[in-house]
Amino acid sequence: MTTDHWVEAAALADVRRRRRLAVTVAGRHIALFLVGETVYALDDLCVHKQRRLTKGTLLYGRVICPGHQWKIDPETGRVEDREECQPTYAVRVDGGTVYVDPRPRVPTKES
Ligand code: FES
Repeated sequence: MTTDHWVEAAALADVRRRRRLAVTVAGRHIALFLVGETVYALDDLCVHKQRRLTKGTLLYGRVICPGHQWKIDPETGRVEDREECQPTYAVRVDGGTVYVDPRPRVPTKES
């Protein structure tokens, strides 16, 4: 992966404080979630009915959408028991800053 596309998205301290953070990167609404010590980035607008994932919860490492409680793997974007997948983004943490590559990764159930 090239590093040409990294965009500064947030301070790591802000993500740590709330464990989730809504940011706008290159015009995209992106949700940052802290699971353990890892920061993940997904489209903030749910692939189902566009509710904001940052208004949802984290449970057992899954993002729970506030709309209809779909359970989303923040690493892959896969939705439990569904065909739909939530776009995700590559994340890099460097020197207390979270960088996001704003090119969405859209997985499939098979990938
Ligand atoms: S809007 Fe996210 S599950 Fe329906």
